Amino acid sequence: MMTQILTLNKWNPERDYISRAAEIINSGGLVAFPTETVYGLGGDALNPESVKKIYAAKGRPSDNPLILHVSNINQAESLVYMNDSARKLAKIFWPAPLTLVLPAKNIIPSTTRGGLSTAAVRMPDNNIALALIEAAKTPIAAPSANLSGRPSPTDSQSVYNDMNNRIDLILDGGKTGIGLESTVIDITNPEKILLLRPGGLSRELIESELNTRLGIPDSNSAKRSPGTRYRHYAPSLPVKILRNESDLDLLDIKSAGFMGIHEINKNFPVKIIFDSPENFAHGLFAGFRELESQKISCIIVEWPRDNSGINEALRDRIKRAAGE
Ligand code: TXA
Ligand code: MG
Repeated sequence: MMTQILTLNKWNPERDYISRAAEIINSGGLVAFPTETVYGLGGDALNPESVKKIYAAKGRPSDNPLILHVSNINQAESLVYMNDSARKLAKIFWPAPLTLVLPAKNIIPSTTRGGLSTAAVRMPDNNIALALIEAAKTPIAAPSANLSGRPSPTDSQSVYNDMNNRIDLILDGGKTGIGLESTVIDITNPEKILLLRPGGLSRELIESELNTRLGIPDSNSAKRSPGTRYRHYAPSLPVKILRNESDLDLLDIKSAGFMGIHEINKNFPVKIIFDSPENFAHGLFAGFRELESQKISCIIVEWPRDNSGINEALRDRIKRAAGE
């Protein structure tokens, strides 16, 4: 299968391109599309054959459930049993990098949910994504559009590198804004809301709207977020975390690439320096892919100095990339 790429205007997506993409979704094919977080690998969430193709294209274990992308709150209501807290968050934040895990209605095929009784829903903040969901008239199941275990793609070229010949079409909408995936919360029990995956919407913002702290899943509920079981986001080179400057003495700087906010040492042959945590998040995955192609033997990543805002998600992705 030849993978086609169409470049769209992300503020005002070309209608004919969107219709073509929607036809592919409706006939059971796969279309990669931009969101505000990372590119998604989309198929009809209500068609089990499409969903099987998504797992196959990614090489993803089929017990790791997919997010259903919707274009409005009513569509979410048709898929899952929303409660007042879920409605409140959806009304305040959506479209946003916020994914809600809720009890699934029967309309969602078991394959989409990875066999679970819950399902994850999110309304993405990207006009191409929203236009595609509306035109297809069906929720779109979409994991990140990378091969399983690889860094998520934040531009269409990265999608192409991983997915050429595996999917029908890539909608190119430029670089994604946030660069890390959505925040996933389990809101099945509104009395005990759990942060399953830190992401593009900060814990602090969610907690201040709910007036409560988000819990951390215990080992039992961790089973309900199967994504957290697998190694993730990893480039093909080993990743080492630089928590203290003194750790540099133990590392071979001259054969390493560096990524971080502070230019800690001048002797790295390659380095990518970001001027803010937001830009670090925006460039982390692209940076991994860029450094992989360099003649270095490992990637050293600076550990964000605090855990606030986007840093909680950054720390999570850096830890996973390092295999910790
Ligand atoms: O930003 C994002 O969320 C991107 C874009 C494309 O929307 N998507 C994404 O999908 O990151 P994926 O499949 O790479 O990650 C989805 C996460 C996984 O950790 C999965 O285990 C979790 O959501 N998840 C999905 N359904 C779930 C459920 N019913 N219960 C618990 N966790 C669930
Ligand atoms: Mg992913």
